Amino acid sequence: MIAVKDLSVKYKSNRGEVQALNKVNINMAAGDLYTVIGPSGCGKSTLLYVLSGILTDFEGSVLINGKPVNPRTQRIGLILQNYGLLPWKTVYQNVTLGLKIKYGHTGLNEDGRHLLQQLGIDDLLNRYPKELSGGQQQRVAIARAFMLKPDLLLMDEPFSALDAITREEIQELFLETWQKNPVNTVFVTHSVDEALYLGRKVAVFSPSPGRILEVADNPCFHKDKLQFKDEYHEMSMHLRSLLSKG
Ligand SMILES: Nc1ncnc2c1ncn2[C@@H]1O[C@H](COP(=O)(O)OP(=O)(O)O)[C@@H](O)[C@H]1O
Ligand SMILES: [Mg+2]
Repeated sequence: MIAVKDLSVKYKSNRGEVQALNKVNINMAAGDLYTVIGPSGCGKSTLLYVLSGILTDFEGSVLINGKPVNPRTQRIGLILQNYGLLPWKTVYQNVTLGLKIKYGHTGLNEDGRHLLQQLGIDDLLNRYPKELSGGQQQRVAIARAFMLKPDLLLMDEPFSALDAITREEIQELFLETWQKNPVNTVFVTHSVDEALYLGRKVAVFSPSPGRILEVADNPCFHKDKLQFKDEYHEMSMHLRSLLSKG
């Protein structure tokens, strides 16, 4: 479970201070999947930096399973837009990297092999990242994150560089993988459609300095042919009006 209480972040530079987040509160039950949507610059990435333990200069409290966030004692998975794969390592080495750091070996068990099959990368294990398409690279990044069974999985606009068809495929693959391995996930996006398809709950942020305008239960989560459903149109209008009012 994730508990964020009155989280505020200011960036300080010699040109002055920028308030990036303003009293953000989130309470996430175990095994939940949130999408976070908000305008560019509202502090979405900043929130993920705090949750990942990279950014430690903040006000308020951030607890993961009751303990202050700490990447040394908690497993935190991070999936970014640019995949974050090591170019000099093969797919297999990339996927098992975290295992080596955590457990000191890189052997895959049954679950691990199944994950690679499910994501369709079991035939690509000896390739290098530059020999893969963007979609394939992102599937490798997803495999690497789930392989570690993280306490918290953070995703920062991970699919926004992919073409529309690849993006839809990988959204589906991600959801299937998540449903078999339901880890706490915070998924940042600036697409209303993506927020509605992938989020069990959708947190809507105001423009900078970001605060949460609403956390909506989402009836559209993982629904087929969403564009033809009434609840999609209702939710979509609701989110867009929140975003435009700020
Ligand atoms: N290192 C930094 N120093 C100063 N300001 C920053 C820094 N990083 C981000 N910001 C500012 O903080 C705000 C939030 O940024 P960010 O979290 O990247 O937003 P988002 O991911 O929602 O686009 C923006 O106004 C941005 O310009
Ligand atoms: Mg960002």
